[in-house]
Amino acid sequence: KLVRAPTHIISTISDDRGEEPCYAGVPMSSIVERGYGVGDVISLLWFKRSLPRYCTQFIEICIMLCADHGPCVSGAHNTIVTARAGKDLVSSLVSGLLTIGPRFGGAIDDAARYFKDAYDRGLSPYEFVEGMKKKGIRVPGIGHRIKRRDNRDKRVELLQQFARTHFPSVKYMEYAVEVETFTLSKANNLVLNVDGAIGSLFLDLLAGSGMFTKPEIDEIVEIGYLNGLFVLARAIGLIGHTFDQKRLKQPLYRHPWEDVLYTK
Ligand code: ACO
Ligand code: LMR
Repeated sequence: KLVRAPTHIISTISDDRGEEPCYAGVPMSSIVERGYGVGDVISLLWFKRSLPRYCTQFIEICIMLCADHGPCVSGAHNTIVTARAGKDLVSSLVSGLLTIGPRFGGAIDDAARYFKDAYDRGLSPYEFVEGMKKKGIRVPGIGHRIKRRDNRDKRVELLQQFARTHFPSVKYMEYAVEVETFTLSKANNLVLNVDGAIGSLFLDLLAGSGMFTKPEIDEIVEIGYLNGLFVLARAIGLIGHTFDQKRLKQPLYRHPWEDVLYTK
């Protein structure tokens, strides 16, 4: 009789025991031979399945468009300050990554959760936004520090264009746009931001691709896979900012006194 010793770890996404490593059962050689890209690798390691080309292309576009947004945003600022304090690559990178959260870059999962719940319950944009206001919660995926009604976020437009051309349905994204139309009637800066665009469009990808069951979609949204897209993407830019500061031999950063209001 075969007796199996109990294991301490269960793993289902990759296997390195054979002649070649496999991602979700797909060997490295097939990944190379089939000309897979990083979108395919994400599909295998995060979603444990191969997704259609338009889905992997969408994932890759999200990664490319979110890779960087200049030196002034929270993440890049932290990374630059850390690199200038003489710290190594990993320290500079993670100090930037640690700013990703509900206000900056990490609103994708909550945007997906709230847009999905509101759409599935048939709430009008008015009911949804006013309901959130009553609860004292800012609508995730709405609002931006520098983007405005008359200075829209090009990234959002590019993602929407791609999805309108390639996705079978963009119902969640259209709902997010209706929400934006309502929030813009309240204030000029309450645009659909890149987190809201990715959150709503990923719901459309999950629901429209026919690759996921309803419980699987609920689990993905509940666990919160989607902030991973921003974390992964922005790591590219943060690594670039680290190299940039080192190349420029920038000295220790000290914030100027003039820019602080010292008060009691
Ligand atoms: N929902 C409802 N009302 C909002 C929202 C929102 N998402 N954002 C701003 N407001 C309103 C509020 O009434 C706010 O007043 P309050 O301070 O009394 O709550 C008023 O607009 C002014 O807001 P500001 O604080 O000036 O907005 P700020 O420019 O500081 O915030 C931010 C920008 C953080 C993005 C904000 O809009 C927000 O929290 N959005 C939700 C989270 C989100 O989507 N973050 C991702 C941004 S995109 C990215 O980081 C890649
Ligand atoms: C970003 O991608 O970092 C931004 O949208 C945030 C910002 O303030 O520009």
